[in-house]
Amino acid sequence: MSTLSPDSAWWRQAAVYQIYPRSFSDANGDGMGDLPGVTARMGYLSALGIDAIWLSPFYPSALADGGYDVDDYRNVDPRLGSLSDFNAMVSAAHASGIRVIVDIVPNHSSNRHEWFQAALASAPGSPERARYHFLDGLGADGELPPSDWPSHFGGPAWTRVPDGQWYLHLFATEQPDFNWDHPEVREDFHTTLRFWADRGVDGFRVDVAHALIKDMSLPLRSKPALEILVDDGTDPLFDRDEVHEVFAGWRSVLNEYDPPKAAVAEAWVPFTNRRLKYARPTELGQAFNFDLLQAPFSAVEFRSIAEKCLSEADASGASSTWVFSNHDVVRHPSRYALPDGSTLADLEAWLLADGATPVVDLARGLRRARAATLFMLGLPGSAYLYQGEELGLFEVADLPASSLQDPTWFRTGNKVKGRDGCRVPLPWSASTANFGFGGTPWLPQPEWFGEHAADVQDGVAGSTLEMYRAALKLRGTLQTSESLEWLSSPGASVVHYRRPNGWEVLTNFAAVPAALPAGVDLSKVVLSSGAPATESIPAETTLWLAP
Ligand code: NOJ
Repeated sequence: MSTLSPDSAWWRQAAVYQIYPRSFSDANGDGMGDLPGVTARMGYLSALGIDAIWLSPFYPSALADGGYDVDDYRNVDPRLGSLSDFNAMVSAAHASGIRVIVDIVPNHSSNRHEWFQAALASAPGSPERARYHFLDGLGADGELPPSDWPSHFGGPAWTRVPDGQWYLHLFATEQPDFNWDHPEVREDFHTTLRFWADRGVDGFRVDVAHALIKDMSLPLRSKPALEILVDDGTDPLFDRDEVHEVFAGWRSVLNEYDPPKAAVAEAWVPFTNRRLKYARPTELGQAFNFDLLQAPFSAVEFRSIAEKCLSEADASGASSTWVFSNHDVVRHPSRYALPDGSTLADLEAWLLADGATPVVDLARGLRRARAATLFMLGLPGSAYLYQGEELGLFEVADLPASSLQDPTWFRTGNKVKGRDGCRVPLPWSASTANFGFGGTPWLPQPEWFGEHAADVQDGVAGSTLEMYRAALKLRGTLQTSESLEWLSSPGASVVHYRRPNGWEVLTNFAAVPAALPAGVDLSKVVLSSGAPATESIPAETTLWLAP
């Protein structure tokens, strides 16, 4: 029986917990997490105090890209369960008052999808090929790819098929890009949305939402670096204005339901004004905001990002989103443990060195991560949490090369290690085989996972798990409106804000204690990310003060 509140705006300030199903909990002991594993852990999720779970893809897949290579959008990978296991999981979640968001991957299918198989079996110029982007190559014999576009995972974005044509894949070779100008592609995704909505899901996370529409007019325009975007809708590959027609169509489908289904765009668009177009009420409603995730742990950065994102979300009618970790990035306690000033290239070099150099300060990284999390959980908007962050997990930086699975590792000729280190199966119990995950995990767990196991932290005051539980419980009281007031503080290292109902949040970003702003009454502290506050704000710590 469902215990969900009838609130159709539930998503605006929700705490959403991302489950990477293959690494969450393995009920059948085959070493791969599964849907019955999620159902079995519903009590844990409920006690954590989250509002919703978002499941990364659980569809049939050869796992060329961890499931983001989908063979069949309307089924469950048999290794992860069945459609009836899915129904059971949704029922269990709803009975616990937890909503369910599923991942939709519209930019590309897998190369095993029946449409792509039909395209390969058909001739150049056939209707079957028109659902993807097949082109002749350049050069005297078409031996060169149709453009200089690279793939996100390294290497060219084109692969040649035996009859000489090339097909486009912005990600791995096994992920051919759909042609979104094709009406059947558009219609089929409406069918997929309805399929899962009819099964009771409450929302959708939309993978690479900004990439669907491409300028395929010939000759193709040059774009040798994918990460450089323009802010006027004229980029050949990303954030083109026409993509908004697609999502307006999706909104009509999502609004067929009562309450309407929620949706959040994954759109790595650095220009907030353009990113928010995906979040308009006439489109998806929300878009991920990765600004805090990409920022250094700094008072100036955190405050200016939060201020800017909140005012822009306000202006667009969306609510803001916040995220520090997900299945694509190095876990935030490890990012903050690297020497200050480390760049993305430094992070990649650190992973390549198996996390040996530069030397990281893990205690500091976790202290800062906890402070950052409480800073975020006090803000208006939705907080997206990634499985294992509530256990204070670090990146597993030293996975043996033989265990790596991320296509980035292979497509860069072993030069970029990729994302496996944040996908290692969770430790549930310190003293059980495979830390209680299930069978021998598909990525090896390090020894130190035992110290982070859920059962070791359960009920232990000050543990990261108990801090998350306490914060998520209090968040219900704190999030009664969507606004806040920034307060001034004597030191530049402190950010201080107050919610209209009187809750206050203070973060000291410095490595030394900071003086209290005038009028702050420490007897009102109900939660600290670090040491108890006596007469100052401890180093790299966030405090929550109740009214
Ligand atoms: C974004 C997903 O989060 C990532 O894991 C995936 O590799 C790409 N999209 C391609 O689907």
